[in-house]
Amino acid sequence: MNKASKANKANKAANKAKTDIILQTRGLKETYMQGKVPIHALQGVDLQVKRGELISIVGPSGSGKSTLLSIIGMLETPTEGEVFIDGIEVTGVKMKEIPRLRREKIGFVFQHFNLLPALTALGNVEIAMRFARVHKKERIRRATEVLTEMGLGDRLNHKPSELSGGEQQRVSIARALANKPSIILADEPTGEVDTKTRDLIIGILRRLSDGGQTVIVVTHDTWVAERTDRVIRLVDGMVEGA
Ligand SMILES: Nc1ncnc2c1ncn2[C@@H]1O[C@H](COP(=O)(O)OP(=O)(O)OP(=O)(O)O)[C@@H](O)[C@H]1O
Ligand SMILES: [Mg+2]
Repeated sequence: MNKASKANKANKAANKAKTDIILQTRGLKETYMQGKVPIHALQGVDLQVKRGELISIVGPSGSGKSTLLSIIGMLETPTEGEVFIDGIEVTGVKMKEIPRLRREKIGFVFQHFNLLPALTALGNVEIAMRFARVHKKERIRRATEVLTEMGLGDRLNHKPSELSGGEQQRVSIARALANKPSIILADEPTGEVDTKTRDLIIGILRRLSDGGQTVIVVTHDTWVAERTDRVIRLVDGMVEGA
């Protein structure tokens, strides 16, 4: 291959990476009814996120951050608008398809960890793979691998009550990663951990993004937001400056 065509190929690859949109929302609206009073949690959100991006969503309490994350994560359906993930309009597919799509595409990390108290760290991660038709031996191998990557190789058999907050959050990240999702959604993942664990968690999220996974993190912490590639600010259910 000559120099010019090599350069051309490299350019094409760079352009493809730039335009490789993994997530798009169009005109997203969510209206909750509080009795007869409508609450406009989202009022038309258009968003485009590239593969491998690490972005943060910030904004005042009640601005719609968790609502937006829940809709992207297919935990809620919007009142209006569309969500495309990996080119699939997830707001248009049949309800029965949703659990499989969610499992394949999305890993969710919650502020309050949401771990099952009766299960060990290993059990909490392994169970996330049970519905994905992965053989038990492979589930345990993979759960051990991700937990070890999270620095929890010596905590596999601890139950959540026997783990610190930071360790529980790392188990919940491991659980979110178990099915190798293309998008990791984290709602205030550093809200309940100390600053040392916060740094560690941001380091983990950055590594995932460098490895090609897309990470969207909701945060109130400017230190966290400053360490992401792009900050999206929601105000009254709208993207500021959009
Ligand atoms: N299930 C629901 N029913 C009724 N109203 C809701 C519901 N969920 C959220 N809301 C309202 O929608 C608005 C947006 O809520 P959301 O939880 O998305 O905000 P947020 O930006 O995540 O806030 P915070 O920073 O406090 O977590 C708020 O006014 C909230 O009271
Ligand atoms: Mg919230």
